[in-house]
Amino acid sequence: MSLSNTSREAAQKPRNNRRMLLGLGLLALIFPLLRFVGFRVPAKPRKIEINTTAPANGVLVHSDFILFDRDGASWALTRKCTHLGCKVSYHEQGNYLECPCHQSRFSPEGKVVNGPAKIDLVAYTVEKRDTAPYYVVTI
Ligand code: FES
Repeated sequence: MSLSNTSREAAQKPRNNRRMLLGLGLLALIFPLLRFVGFRVPAKPRKIEINTTAPANGVLVHSDFILFDRDGASWALTRKCTHLGCKVSYHEQGNYLECPCHQSRFSPEGKVVNGPAKIDLVAYTVEKRDTAPYYVVTI
């Protein structure tokens, strides 16, 4: 007794579907394990265009970074505190950045002034232009 080609193919279809489901299930299990051991897909760099010039104090506050344009130099610092990730703010009177969560302070160059943070703020690349967009920040 032999099966025709059509009935053999029909018998293999559910088997192939099961294999595919098994493969997807394994991937679903492996991916969280890889994340747990530290595997990360690197984030693609984003370019953010700023269409205004810096105000007189040379500080532009963006939701993701604080941009400084002073004495002919431009730089941007992340707003993500290196302690536990709260959003730092710029204090113009004292000329420092401070985290509202545990009061870590950073210099305008991103160096730790007061802890508990121990790591300096991450700096982003800034491209300054003469026409709009006046700054392009790569984060
Ligand atoms: S999260 Fe910024 S000081 Fe703790």
